[in-house]
Amino acid sequence: MREAKQILVCGGAGYIGSHMAKMLAEAGYGVTVLDNLSTGNREALKWGEFVRADLRDPEALDNLFSHKSFYAVMHFAALIQVGESVAKPAEYYDNNVIGAYRLLEAMRAHDVDRFVFSSTAAVYGEPQQEQITEDHPLQPLNPYGRTKLHMERMLEDYATAYQMRSVRFRYFNAAGADPSGEIGESHDPESHLIPNVLMAVLGEAPQLSIFGHDYPTRDGTAVRDYIHVHDLAAAHLAAIDYMDANTGSTAFNLGNGTGFTVKEIIEAAEKVTGRQVPHTLGERRAGDAAILVADSAKAQEALKWTPEYIEVGGIIETAWQWHRDRKY
Ligand SMILES: NC(=O)c1ccc[n+]([C@@H]2O[C@H](COP(=O)([O-])OP(=O)(O)OC[C@H]3O[C@@H](n4cnc5c(N)ncnc54)[C@H](O)[C@@H]3O)[C@@H](O)[C@H]2O)c1
Repeated sequence: MREAKQILVCGGAGYIGSHMAKMLAEAGYGVTVLDNLSTGNREALKWGEFVRADLRDPEALDNLFSHKSFYAVMHFAALIQVGESVAKPAEYYDNNVIGAYRLLEAMRAHDVDRFVFSSTAAVYGEPQQEQITEDHPLQPLNPYGRTKLHMERMLEDYATAYQMRSVRFRYFNAAGADPSGEIGESHDPESHLIPNVLMAVLGEAPQLSIFGHDYPTRDGTAVRDYIHVHDLAAAHLAAIDYMDANTGSTAFNLGNGTGFTVKEIIEAAEKVTGRQVPHTLGERRAGDAAILVADSAKAQEALKWTPEYIEVGGIIETAWQWHRDRKY
């Protein structure tokens, strides 16, 4: 029997990384998860070998790469809160940029040359077109987005100078949970809309605060594109084959292509749960764009990838299953 290709999943105890670890294991890959558990959950570590380490620790990385031979690295490990990044930019540059640099250097030292990176729609800034394509100007509005843009630039430079292959995925809003109910979205504090809506329904949060109701949108609340975590993971899986056939570093948007306002998400959640979402109208949050909707045609074509969850109600349904019977 051929030995399984080993994939290193950095940040695999987190929301998206844990769904990725599951999909990789089910697809027959060998999985190693590296995580410092700063925001991740031990309960989400169900697939592969777990190595507790910090990305910024070169010795730990050297040790890991010396003992295992990785076919590719998937990098989900980052600090991810826009508001916090405005208040504490140094922590974001340290964890996200220096962490990524240490990881790339360990890969280089051990001849690992395939990298899949979790970037974000936040690299674009205020949209200049209805649906954002990958060639849209890159003008992030906050330090979180700027750390991600730095990492993207590093990957382009590493591709040119060191022939490191990479796929940079610019996720729009990740949402939903594995339909099995064994893993799901659990951030602390939670800054994402759908979990906060559902936690308000369940009385786990006093009520939902809508950040801004005077945006130039159809009902004044911000518009976002929600993509199911399973669809995100499926694109990463396809990226492994893509990098076999393509050199260089390529950016792809991952989104559904449809935007929903905060109020529309609340209405959809009320339909799914059959309950009211208690909410108040608050001020805009620093660093938030009014509208972010993806054009993902490039990913669909190059990766032969099509999102399965195209209805927002279906996405919320899986999140609701998770939140009702949450394991962590
Ligand atoms: N959730 C979204 O909607 C969204 C949208 C766009 C981009 N992204 C990106 O996707 C990635 C994953 O997001 P998530 O929602 O799963 O976040 P998460 O916080 O659930 O997971 C991040 C994981 O990385 C680990 N980690 C962080 N810093 C580390 C370090 N220095 N060393 C080792 N481990 C470290 C954490 O412990 C955690 O398990 C992030 O890079 C994020 O920027 C997420």
